[in-house]
Amino acid sequence: ERVDVSGLYLIPGAIDVHVHFREPGYTHKEDWETGSAAAAMGGVTTIFEMPNTDPPTRSIVELRGKLACARKSYVDFGIYGLLAEDNLDEIPGLIDGGVAAFKCFMGNTFGDLPSPSTGAMLEGFQIIARSGLRISLHAETASIMARRQAQLEEAGLCAPTDHIASRPDVVAVEAVGRAAALAQWAGARIHILHISSAAELVPLMQARARGVDVTGETCPHYLLLDRSDYARVGSVIRVNPPVRERRDAAALWDALDAGMIDMIATDHAPHTPEEKRQSNIWRADCGFPGVETQMPLMLTEVAKGRMTLERYVAISSAVPARKFGLWPAKGRIAVGADADIAVIDPTRRETIEARRLHSRGKITPFEGRQTVGAPVHTLVRGAFVQRDRQLVAERRGHGLSVSRIQRMPDPMPRNDDQAIDTIIAMAQREAESVPVALT
Ligand code: DOR
Ligand code: ZN
Ligand code: ZN
Repeated sequence: ERVDVSGLYLIPGAIDVHVHFREPGYTHKEDWETGSAAAAMGGVTTIFEMPNTDPPTRSIVELRGKLACARKSYVDFGIYGLLAEDNLDEIPGLIDGGVAAFKCFMGNTFGDLPSPSTGAMLEGFQIIARSGLRISLHAETASIMARRQAQLEEAGLCAPTDHIASRPDVVAVEAVGRAAALAQWAGARIHILHISSAAELVPLMQARARGVDVTGETCPHYLLLDRSDYARVGSVIRVNPPVRERRDAAALWDALDAGMIDMIATDHAPHTPEEKRQSNIWRADCGFPGVETQMPLMLTEVAKGRMTLERYVAISSAVPARKFGLWPAKGRIAVGADADIAVIDPTRRETIEARRLHSRGKITPFEGRQTVGAPVHTLVRGAFVQRDRQLVAERRGHGLSVSRIQRMPDPMPRNDDQAIDTIIAMAQREAESVPVALT
């Protein structure tokens, strides 16, 4: 079969290392079918799914349960194992069972998982370090102000934007610094999730200067929204950590340009419209869907000249592939890679409408936003999962766990030259060709 892609661009499918697909436990918000359909529609070919489900992914038992749910997936996936106070003995089992990375909640958020003590984190880091898997951190502690603020709001004494003050950036600065210190001692690789503030960049860069293998992500909402959007968007904007000031967004853009922030992810965190639409922002659940809107939103910035397409490919796919051990199989289009492709129309104009999203969380702070550029086909390992802006329903279940295709060269290739040797060796081993020709 030949498919005409003249006038379109082929880029590696996005790799989103931060999504919450909610199954098992909260399937009224999302499940693996709806979440992965949203990914396929958004040009995202691999996702890493977070452990704050019910039950949380805390041992091999829950991992098996989650892998069973993930059999419905349209796209390839990594499963996060939980690092908590009380599951240190379960970590080797999670590693053997094929988790792609670990997640540690340093502060309280959806799912109410208690954050581990510094001692438990250190022990967990040491165990995980031997596997080479990366540990992603929700690096902020909820401040006691959050509860006080809620009471004030009830009394009509504080504004929605006080949500920002309830999680001041200092609680993230402290958490990033502490996690990096532990990682340095344990020799662990870590990843800072959802960087939302300029202040967090300081401990991140200090840790990197000391030689800690620490990566960082930000999300489209921290780049494209700020304090001025609270009044317009209302409780829908509530997310942990909060969308902050205009100067924070500007600093995050600069950090992305400079390579201080390595990648973008979405923190796809769907909740129902009823759970999100509240007259009191403190009653709204935190987060919103993102996996389907990331690529159109960011391609719009490419169209505006805010970023080159090459840089977008790096932060959305190539760098996450490399840093999470998926390199060189994923994150590039090359012989030996596995043909995860987003075919994009850089001029396609669309309007974001929550009711048309494939996620069950049909509500977004980006409602009504005009976008320029969209993925018009998505291929996972050479097979269409989205074609002409339509989901290919027969591909439900096509997704595979990346632990089955993951190759973690040790040491990980640090630059393209080293990676090319690995690719050539792989290409010689696997003469397998892509089942569709894009011409
Ligand atoms: O806004 C958020 N939503 N932040 C988190 O850390 C968790 C997430 C969720 O699972 O809903
Ligand atoms: Zn988080
Ligand atoms: Zn999250």
